[in-house]
Amino acid sequence: MRRPLLIFLLVVLAIILFMVHQVWSLLTLLVVDGAADAITKAELPAIGSARKAPSLIPKIIHQTYKNESIPPVWQEAQASCVELHPESEGWEYKLWTDAMSVDFIEAEYPWFLETFKGYPFPIQRADAIRYFVLAHYGGIYIDLDDGCNRPLDPLLVYPAFVRRTVPTGISNDVMGSVPGHPFFMMVTQVIQGYDRSWILPYITVMGSTGPLFLSVLWVHWLGGGKNIGDDADGGRLRLIFPDEYEGQSWSFLTHHVGNSWHGYDVQLIFWLGRNWVLVTIVGFAVGLTLIASGWLGYRRFAGGDASKRAKSPTGHKLAFWNRWRQRQHEYELVDRHEV
Ligand SMILES: *[C@@H]1O[C@H](CO)[C@@H](O)[C@H](O)[C@H]1NC(C)=O
Repeated sequence: MRRPLLIFLLVVLAIILFMVHQVWSLLTLLVVDGAADAITKAELPAIGSARKAPSLIPKIIHQTYKNESIPPVWQEAQASCVELHPESEGWEYKLWTDAMSVDFIEAEYPWFLETFKGYPFPIQRADAIRYFVLAHYGGIYIDLDDGCNRPLDPLLVYPAFVRRTVPTGISNDVMGSVPGHPFFMMVTQVIQGYDRSWILPYITVMGSTGPLFLSVLWVHWLGGGKNIGDDADGGRLRLIFPDEYEGQSWSFLTHHVGNSWHGYDVQLIFWLGRNWVLVTIVGFAVGLTLIASGWLGYRRFAGGDASKRAKSPTGHKLAFWNRWRQRQHEYELVDRHEV
């Protein structure tokens, strides 16, 4: 193979490897299924029957809204969770308003206050606060658009759980944890470093505080071999799969209308998702065009075409040197535009 072509291909390969490395966590996300950590129907007690295992997670339900006036559309879902977890059975209910959240971060995590207040989208604060209250108090966080179908007590026997989403990743809409669980501690410790803008609001929110952020940390967590031991060790993060989440008689939750923050960019992303064949073809076309124009540019710069090399004023080192010596004699033959 000609040397300029070889160099060019090596550079392209290096760039591709670099890009794959950059998105490696996302690619891993496509193949990690987490089945080993599933909370299966078989290990759950039937609705209404008691379970002997000791509770680890404290009986606290956390929800968030900007103030105490929950919009009518979510009141039914909220009431279903409050009613199934009464104070008389030791449950506590905490609604984190914007003002309470800022006070809590200021008092307990002052190093995070500036980032917390500086998030451009309110949903980022709603995302972030749930990790901090779980790491701090423990309990179960539930999004306002999730209602309860049965008491969540059987989930208290695990040190921590999140909801597995299909086809990939985990969600942050229903999560439980003991106080100080290592996974949520890690989440609160690294969240500041993920505060970046990805141009589109949806991707910025997902990647800096939302489910994509949490899923990437989950992949790192699994990859670091941290999800080991049995439940009593306190380190393991368990997963609720779709059937245990909603839609079956034994599911824990019911889903109500939500996604109040989705904007124009989500339409675009969903459109890209629906038209992924077209998007893939266009992506390859653009990629190959970039590589081809890179090659043409490189060849022009380095004089990579052997048939024209002798006439080129540039070229790789050796050719350049040969030509340098002949230059005075051949100068009039040089035509840059032929290369
Ligand atoms: C809560 O926010 C809504 C919407 O911004 C507003 O209409 C309502 O008056 C607020 N409620 C309280 C108690 O401040």
